[in-house]
Amino acid sequence: MNMQTRIQEKFRALFGEDGILYASAGRINLIGEHTDYNGGYVFPGAIDCGIVAAIRLNGTDKVNVCSLDYDECCSFGLREEDAPEKAWARYVFGVCRETLKRGGKVEGFNAVFAGDVPLGAGLSSSAALESCFAFALNDLFANGIDKFELARIGQSTEHNYCGVKCGIMDQFASIFGQEGKLIRLNCKTMEYKYFPFHPEGYRLVLIDSCVKHELASSAYNRRRASCENAAAAIRKNHPEVEFLSDAKRVWLDEVRADIPEEDFLRAEYVIGEVQRVLDVCDALERGDYETVGEMMYQTHFGMSRLYEVSCEELDFLNKLARKMDVTGSRVMGGGFGGCTINLVRNELYDSFIAAAKKEFEARFGHAPKVYDVVISDGARRL
Ligand code: GLA
Repeated sequence: MNMQTRIQEKFRALFGEDGILYASAGRINLIGEHTDYNGGYVFPGAIDCGIVAAIRLNGTDKVNVCSLDYDECCSFGLREEDAPEKAWARYVFGVCRETLKRGGKVEGFNAVFAGDVPLGAGLSSSAALESCFAFALNDLFANGIDKFELARIGQSTEHNYCGVKCGIMDQFASIFGQEGKLIRLNCKTMEYKYFPFHPEGYRLVLIDSCVKHELASSAYNRRRASCENAAAAIRKNHPEVEFLSDAKRVWLDEVRADIPEEDFLRAEYVIGEVQRVLDVCDALERGDYETVGEMMYQTHFGMSRLYEVSCEELDFLNKLARKMDVTGSRVMGGGFGGCTINLVRNELYDSFIAAAKKEFEARFGHAPKVYDVVISDGARRL
């Protein structure tokens, strides 16, 4: 039975009618990692797995929501003090609260949702959940909140209800995603451009290490603090630097002695990464996939050695890709586990995947998972 049918069946069993169906997507990111909260560029796209929710207003002041995947239900009111304990329910509660804070209307509703974004793989299952509900509530209550603000509702939910000081990339991709297109977003100005992505002769594939490191959110928040610290030091000499992405590399060198070495390395990575996004977009327009791939390897090096968000398993997969002459490979998303994203020539695909499975399992005792990337639509009513 497909996901939509299961969701509607559950909705009927619980609430005695059909719900209205909404969907949203997880995301990949070709390049531009940890640049979003530094005001830099990202280059994500929505993918063909996400969250589907059936929703209907219930005429009360209570929200009753069920997660099919966790096989759990939760009811809560809409005041700040009604915040639920369950982690998954806090995403839905947060979206309600953030919508209200923006002057939107939210009243009681019933909902059942399920998802097929692999959890902990760095594919933004939480952003998919937030975007699905942000989009749905906006539609159901005819709030007229624009798409940028819908993405910010998801981001603020992470900040204020889930403890992650994330950037805007995931929620933006989940809301703005379009089939077959990547989106280059300038996270400072919020200007964006769609790039059709059909790399002829290549496939984009994710290899999921299936490791998820504990305390990833506090490590993530520490990275962000390092970047802000480096930007503040540079700003003393160059007041025009609002975000780290505004800084030139030489400006960072000027303050090397004034900041912890760790912050210097983090900032060095970010400044390089912002430029790599632009280089990759140029290369894509020329159909130069070799350059795209080379930039991906450079990003991996930076994320592993300077930003320190990779891990043994992901470094292993990256090294294997290099050894097998895969065009591009790098850790994707926030890091601390999850996937590598790989740009692989068609003729190499089968042997690379077979080797990755075999060698990874021999080394780490469990098989990685493999997901072919299909770039798809973001949040929508079904
Ligand atoms: C997570 C965050 C994003 C972004 C990436 C790293 O996915 O939610 O905002 O910072 O990590 O690029």
